[in-house]
Formats: sequence, C-alpha cells, structure tokens
Amino acid sequence: MIVSTFRALRVRGAKGGGVSLQGAALVALALTGGAGAVCGERLDSLVRNAVNISLAHLEQSVSEVRDSTLYPTYATPRLKWILKKSDDWTSGFYPGCLWYAFEISGDPRYERWARRWTAPLEYEKSNTGTHDLGFKFMCSFGNGLRLGTGPAYAAYRTILLSAAQTLSERFNSEVGCLRSNWDAKPAGNSFPVIIDIMMNLDLLFWASGNGGPPFMAEYAARHAATTCRDFVRPDGGTYHIVRYDPNTGEIINRGTLQGAGDGTTWSRGQAWGLYGMVVAYRFTKQEAFLQMAERLADYFLGHLAEDHVSAWDFQSEIRLRDVSATCIAASALLELVRYVANDSLRVHYRREAEAMLTSLCCAPYFTAGIGTSCLLDHSVQYLPVHSNVDVPSIFADYYFLEALLRYRAQSGEPTDQPRGK
Ligand code: GLY
Repeated sequence: MIVSTFRALRVRGAKGGGVSLQGAALVALALTGGAGAVCGERLDSLVRNAVNISLAHLEQSVSEVRDSTLYPTYATPRLKWILKKSDDWTSGFYPGCLWYAFEISGDPRYERWARRWTAPLEYEKSNTGTHDLGFKFMCSFGNGLRLGTGPAYAAYRTILLSAAQTLSERFNSEVGCLRSNWDAKPAGNSFPVIIDIMMNLDLLFWASGNGGPPFMAEYAARHAATTCRDFVRPDGGTYHIVRYDPNTGEIINRGTLQGAGDGTTWSRGQAWGLYGMVVAYRFTKQEAFLQMAERLADYFLGHLAEDHVSAWDFQSEIRLRDVSATCIAASALLELVRYVANDSLRVHYRREAEAMLTSLCCAPYFTAGIGTSCLLDHSVQYLPVHSNVDVPSIFADYYFLEALLRYRAQSGEPTDQPRGK
C-alpha cells in the first residue's frame, strides 16, 4: 500500500491583477472553496468545475508571465511559476495550455495569447541539441494548426516540417532510434535513448502525412518498435534509459536517470511509453503498438495508489505522488479506449481514467482556491537530484487539460471547438 506524505499546506502568495470580470468571478468561486465544495459529486460536475476554474487560472497566468519569450516550467513551493526561455524542454506546454483553453472556450483571447507564446518558439526549429522538438512543436504550432483558421496559419505547417527535419537527424539506423540529448551517467561512447523520446514521434508521423518525406514516419515506427523490444521488462514495467553501441546497435546497459533505481519503474517514464505507443498505433495501426500500449497501461494501473494517483516511482520507498504521470496516463487511456476491441477492457480503461480524473479534479491536487495560476500541485521532475520535487509542473497542467477535453468529448458535452484544418 502506498501512503502519501504530502507536505503541510504551504503559504500561498497573493494573486496578480488583470483578471477579467468573468475570471475574477471564477477565482472568487475557487477562493470560497469551489473545488472542495463539489468533490464527492459526479465526475461530469467535477470536470465542469475544473474546466471553468482552469480557464480563470490561465487567464491570470497571462498577466503574471507577461513576456511572451518566457515560459512557465515548474513552480516554487509558494506555487509561483518559474519562467524559462524557449530552449527549455517544457516550452511548448504553456502555449499548448492556451490552445486547449481556446479549444474548450472558443474565447478569442485565448487564441491571441496562444499565438503570442507560440511565435517565439519558431527559433527552436533548427535546434539540433534537443530530442524534445515534438513536445515543443506539436503542443504549440501543432495545436495552432489544428485549431486556427485563416491564412496566418499556413506558416505553422512550414515551421512544423522544418522542426521535423531537424528532429529526424537524430536517427541512427544501426540502433533504430533517435538519440537522447542527455545522459547523466554515460557509458563511454554510448548512444543513449530515453523512453521520453516516444513523445516526440508524433512530429515525425505528422510530417510524413503532411508534405514531409516518408522516411520520417519510417524512423518513428522503427523507434517505437525498438522501444517495444528493448525497454519493457517481462512484467510490463519499463527502463528509463537504454544505452547502445552506435556502430553495432547492441545494448550496452539499461537503467534509469530520473527514477529510483535501475530496476525500478519511474512512473512518468511508464506514462510517456504508454502515451507514445498509443500515438504510434494512431498513425500506423500496427497491432504490436496497441498490444504494447495495453501492457504498459496494465502495469501502470496495477501499481496505482488507492486514490488512483501514481507514486513518482512505483518501487521507491519515498512515497510521493507525481500528478504529471497520472495526467499523461489518463489522457493516453482516453485515447486508448477508442482503439481497444475488447468491450470489457475498454470499459475498464475508461473507468480507470475516470477514477484518476476524479482525484485530479479535487484537493490536494487541483489548486482551485489556493491563490495560484498553476492548475495542479504535486509533480516530481527529477527526485534523485532534488530538482523540482512535489511542486506544480506545466506538463501536468497540459495533459490535465487534454484529458478533460477528451473526457468531455467522449461524454457528449458540447466542446465549442472551432475547427481549423
Ligand atoms: N522529459 C523529461 C521529463 O519527463 O522529466
């Protein structure tokens, strides 16, 4: 049994100004216990509440961040966003949150803000020093292209194709993978691959279907197949990193960077693997990717805490939750249910995703009423080096909003989604 050791409630900072009447009303609702007041109610009502309050928090965040060349990443213990430049791996998530806010609300202010924080990311399209171009570009320009209308968006396609070209240059055909841009414990001249890279394949799959060369989708499918072969243990848990000989493609060793130990399963890595496999199936319809997504999902769900929120590492004795892993997995499950043929399995995955969302929409995870523009508290970035432990993260917020959108769409709620290309 996993017992949470949440730290005591922290002192909350005062809010910044600039909230509209609608936003102010929603924040006031939150401050009077909006989220807590509805916990225990049906998920539909929790989601409606979470959506409204999230929109208000995002509106507030715009007046706090102000400079559109800076991006929220993690938050301080006082729940204030720490801002970084576009080269941080997380920079696509904030514009992605604003695009989702536009998708949810249809409010043109969110589109304007989303475009403002998307534009400076173009600079990253030639960044050969990162494997995270899928995160950066699909969350920002990718969502913009999907949701926006009008000639201004034509440039988004060209920018995405250019970023895909840069990403594809990390592929090694001996290994069958894209190379990780970092390894804290390198083994000689090894070629490191981390499971997180699965999340960047959608940029390559998308590019091949949208005017880019076919080899990009071939690289992405090969990377996913290599991950199936080399990253997954017999029980369905995953390694975080596999190091290869770049000349022969042979495995040198396997282990972890961000997890508790080489033999444990880091929950966000498991969630990245699950989500990435679902996306690989979406684009290829290869049965092996669907089966692997189910295996990774079964392991994740089989190791959840009682409140359906995952520990940061499934085997660690340090009993902290990581909401980011839970949000990623919940969103992935809500896509997986569209592909699973077996009725009872589909119902099982849907119920598990709903149980996760039920917890995420409530305290102590959902931040309504505690004076912050973050949406969710209790993410863990990199515990072994004590970096951003048990604080909000922008990627938890991004996948939380995505999961809320997917839940609403599948529940037949009107989404007010403007439809672009
Ligand atoms: N991709 C980096 C992380 O999940 O922390």
